[in-house]
Amino acid sequence: MDLIRYASLAANSHNTQPWLFQVGNEGIRLLPDFARRTPVVDPDDHHLFVSLGCAAENLAISAEAMGYTCAGTCTDDGIMQFQLGAGVARSDPLFGAIARRQSTRALYDGRPVPNNHLDILVQSAMRPGVRVVLMTDARQIGQMRDLAVAGNNVQLGDPGFVGELKRWLRFNPRAAMAKGDGLYTACTGNPVLPDWLGPHAFDLFLNAKVENDKLARQIASSSGLAIFIGDRAGRASWVETGRACQRFLLTAAQLGLKSAFINQPVEVTPFRSELAVLAGEAGKRPDLVLRFGYGPTMPYAPRRPVSAVLI
Ligand SMILES: Cc1cc2nc3c(=O)[nH]c(=O)nc-3n(C[C@H](O)[C@H](O)[C@H](O)COP(=O)(O)O)c2cc1C
Repeated sequence: MDLIRYASLAANSHNTQPWLFQVGNEGIRLLPDFARRTPVVDPDDHHLFVSLGCAAENLAISAEAMGYTCAGTCTDDGIMQFQLGAGVARSDPLFGAIARRQSTRALYDGRPVPNNHLDILVQSAMRPGVRVVLMTDARQIGQMRDLAVAGNNVQLGDPGFVGELKRWLRFNPRAAMAKGDGLYTACTGNPVLPDWLGPHAFDLFLNAKVENDKLARQIASSSGLAIFIGDRAGRASWVETGRACQRFLLTAAQLGLKSAFINQPVEVTPFRSELAVLAGEAGKRPDLVLRFGYGPTMPYAPRRPVSAVLI
């Protein structure tokens, strides 16, 4: 149960927690929960399987830290099986970072990250078939900022995207804790409002220009960006990207860095090719974009109890 709890603390798109765990004699199976899809922002379930990969990595790190051997396999359908055996508990700083990591959607202080830490970040994300490209140059970050803001603008002009986002927003701590999922507004520095007011205030006050300006400032305040690119498209490959990404996020947390996703140029498909060119990977399909830097700790996102994700 502890391993599943740690797995559930992984990054996941819209905090839908699109996973189910099945415990058997041989170990733990990790399966997609398609009832938690977000078809507008993620029509091909790319983010869903990346999220499963993030959970898988937390599970594997926790198992080895807690004294199990843990051999994982993944089918082409993105279903994972972890075989657990008796091993020796070993200290792993990434294990300690699992509960501390968060997606920090705040201004960072712009301080550069030392080169040796950048190297550690890139090394940490080495997984078969996944590449990570770092950008720390202000001009490149500016180009990526413009692309992310353009993507944000498209998304906020799409009633389907806005409606889906609104369904996953939790406007106060009571709603966040009752559901145990979704995007709690305080995590993004937005107001806490009663349930009867939140959705109406969101409709009345959501302003693309204000949101775009905020995003632009957040990206400009970051020390660097990381772009993840998998060799292949498909569920098993997206799981690998998720595993690499979660290792990167945990390593960043362990180095005192904050991180957040800025996936607009991946989600708005016409922008993907330009993103690939900016990353020096023309013709490839980029999977994820992250920003990182030194910043404050924000309120943590809720999670559902283990009992809710067990089959
Ligand atoms: C595949 C994937 C895509 C994501 N895309 C975004 C995004 O575009 N913008 C954003 O602010 N957060 C994004 N997130 C972060 C999730 O919203 C976040 O992980 C979730 O709300 C749980 O919060 P936590 O990371 O603080 O635990 C993404 C996470 C994953 C795994």
